[in-house]
Amino acid sequence: MAIERTFSIIKPDATRRNLTGAINAVFEKNGLRIVAQKRIQMTKAQAESFYGVHKERGFFNDLVSFMISGPVVVQVLEGEGAVAKNRELMGATNPANAAEGTIRKLFAESIEANSVHGSDSAENAAIEIAYFFAGAEIVG
Ligand code: PPS
Repeated sequence: MAIERTFSIIKPDATRRNLTGAINAVFEKNGLRIVAQKRIQMTKAQAESFYGVHKERGFFNDLVSFMISGPVVVQVLEGEGAVAKNRELMGATNPANAAEGTIRKLFAESIEANSVHGSDSAENAAIEIAYFFAGAEIVG
């Protein structure tokens, strides 16, 4: 399988509980390399634009408010089949449905406060990485 990159966010519920290192350990133990990472406070405009695809959904305003409720860690993860591997490591959106051992099963609080975001395709990964990182900030 080809080496690829995916975009990840460690969400405010996880940064608040000091879980950045624990989540990064799951990535690193499972063959994903953190090739870019920064802790930021997302603006409302950034969050609305990033989640624009969901703007008609009933949860949109709650999701935006949650994502700006505290710092997040935005990341680029690299590895074999990184997009699918990260989705597998994250587990289902709703932690109640997440498989044992997944990040959301281990750490998430609710369907909203679900600890991590990961790109759902290689195409979206490229768009999401470019949204938060300049090329020179990614060091493989
Ligand atoms: S769906 O139905 O498949 O489009 O949903 P999904 O792709 O899993 O979710 C898209 C993002 O919306 C978040 N989400 C929610 N936030 C707040 N409240 C509710 N009810 C809710 N349902 C879904 C979910 O965590 C996804 O966020 P990201 O950051 O993309 O993982």
